[in-house]
Amino acid sequence: MKVIRTIQEMQQYAQAIKQERKSIGFVPTMGYLHEGHESLMMEARKNNDIVIMSIFVNPLQFGPNEDYDRYPRDEARDQKIAEQNQVDVLFIPSVDDMYPQEQTIQMKVIRRVNVMCGKSREGHFDGVATVLTKLFHLTYPNRVYFGMKDAQQVAVTAALITDLNFPIELIPVPTVREQDGLAKSSRNVHLSKSERSEAKYLYQALLKGQKLVVDGEKNPANIVKEVKNMIDHHINGKLDYVELLQFPSLEPLSTIDQQVILAAAVYFNNARLIDNLVFNKD
Ligand code: PAJ
Repeated sequence: MKVIRTIQEMQQYAQAIKQERKSIGFVPTMGYLHEGHESLMMEARKNNDIVIMSIFVNPLQFGPNEDYDRYPRDEARDQKIAEQNQVDVLFIPSVDDMYPQEQTIQMKVIRRVNVMCGKSREGHFDGVATVLTKLFHLTYPNRVYFGMKDAQQVAVTAALITDLNFPIELIPVPTVREQDGLAKSSRNVHLSKSERSEAKYLYQALLKGQKLVVDGEKNPANIVKEVKNMIDHHINGKLDYVELLQFPSLEPLSTIDQQVILAAAVYFNNARLIDNLVFNKD
């Protein structure tokens, strides 16, 4: 596996691969890799000649009071995991290389962000759209791999690719979970023992909401209320949101007659956890 640390080398390498007419699968991450990231690497490995993965904790997508400084990092371990999953190139740029001057151009995501995480993390998806645009320009991917765990990120990135005409196919990958259903996340290491045992109820509550729909409930407000009740009952952390929306437009719903997303977020002491289910009425 090749480790590339500079933008110049990354761009030259990707250009050379393109000239050989080989396909590139790209997996952007912030590192501290777990089985969720691994399933993206495996998907990318199946369908591309070359797999590039990036590790970059992007300061631009963290708010002033968020966990940029505390975000877990372990490069040596990440390198091993990438190698085991037959990643060809691990791209680990520095912040100075990615953001060499004060920003002159700012990207602003104007749809799909007035709800869910976009609402509670103002500017977050502007930072995500900016870094992804840069990373796409550095790695020339044919396909990019994103986890449905961050479904709003999938919805925003799909719009970014369409709006800016990136010649890229977005492949969404299902959420990988712990045995008790908790979605795997780099931030799970920040949960205390008692928080960790409560955390599974986030997924349980979403499953309950989905079941109500399958059993015939059509009113979104009733479903949201039931999911909130279950979270309140089992989790001491502070509820951020429970929302039921159209997917991927993330527009509101009056009745459930299409593909929807049921999503929730909870603040624990040192971590904010998110989860979601995307499903049709039957
Ligand atoms: P990060 O949180 O490291 O996630 C990298 C990718 O792994 C994302 O596509 C995310 O959805 C996926 N992922 C995380 N947990 C997963 C799980 N349990 N199952 C399946 N996939 C999972 O998301 C980011 O980094 C950043 O915002 C980034 C896209 C790299 C831009 O900075």
